[in-house]
Amino acid sequence: SSSFHTLYLKFYTLLNEEYKKNLTDVAISYLKNRGFSESEIEKYEFGFSPIDSDLPFKIARELNINSLRKLGFLHGKDPFSGRLIIPIKDEYGRVIAFGGRVLGEGQPKYINSYETDFFKKSSTLFLLDVAKDKIKSADFAIICEGYFDAIAFHRAGLTNSVATLGTAFTKYHARKIRKLTQNVVLSFDTDSAGIKAALLSLKILLSQNFNVMVVMYEGEKDPDEILKLKGSSELVDVVKSAIPAEVFVPKALSKKYDLKNSNAINMYLGELKQWDEVFKLVPKRQENFRNTIKEILGYDFDFSKSLSYKIREAT
Ligand code: UTP
Ligand code: MN
Ligand code: MN
Ligand code: MN
Ligand code: MN
Repeated sequence: SSSFHTLYLKFYTLLNEEYKKNLTDVAISYLKNRGFSESEIEKYEFGFSPIDSDLPFKIARELNINSLRKLGFLHGKDPFSGRLIIPIKDEYGRVIAFGGRVLGEGQPKYINSYETDFFKKSSTLFLLDVAKDKIKSADFAIICEGYFDAIAFHRAGLTNSVATLGTAFTKYHARKIRKLTQNVVLSFDTDSAGIKAALLSLKILLSQNFNVMVVMYEGEKDPDEILKLKGSSELVDVVKSAIPAEVFVPKALSKKYDLKNSNAINMYLGELKQWDEVFKLVPKRQENFRNTIKEILGYDFDFSKSLSYKIREAT
């Protein structure tokens, strides 16, 4: 009910305040080591959950809420205990969940609050509350996969950036962005998981008629690492070097195959055939797409000659 929603928001506001108060020197040095100033630490409202924390339970009791599960917690121990706290807010800036990172090494690296009626990972975009105005005025959104990646863009002045919560980008995320702009820059990690996520996200975005450019990071793994190692202007330059989706797809998929082998080339072309169907809706895109493949293979090709294509056609 709506009155429970009010209580829910109150619970998260109070718990966020408690976690912030408990930010220890160790957590502060962790953040400083990641390049944050004191004022940035306050701005992003980082907190810390003390060892043996009972803060969620204490606050739930104070608010007379019996069902912790409805708040995204289970009875027992505070799952965030000993972790750096990153508040997750809805698009109106209200705290609805937390992310918790281990200080240093450890597994799992991050945990999130359990999903609730008011927190769904599949539709939440981290930092959307601060990013939405700039997404509108700049007329594009930068989408990345990590909390610290979205924050890195904001620190570099690109405040039109949001992050998924480590899950796949969904049609619900896309709908939220679509209200603000038709243009997206995808900035996922350049590891195999990130490339896979970028390709899946692309399918969703293109089916909703977005224009999409993709950033490919050479060497470094993610935007946060670029900011730390090379600084803001380099991070901005990398975004400027984003390539169109139809150029990214053949490049990214070429990494999966040994293109000296003719069977591998067939499989590669078989996979690209499906993307050709998507890109052909815009002739310029299809031309770009096919030219990129030609460039990668070093010769002209014919989709109808690919083995997987033949198999699919014959069965
Ligand atoms: P990454 O493994 O790329 O982490 O996961 P990261 O964002 O670069 O983290 P740092 O820089 O080492 O702190 C990307 C995102 O996937 C989710 C988190 O949202 C993370 O930001 N994730 C990752 C989890 O939910 N759990 C994990 O154990 C790891
Ligand atoms: Mn990763
Ligand atoms: Mn990463
Ligand atoms: Mn990392
Ligand atoms: Mn990182």
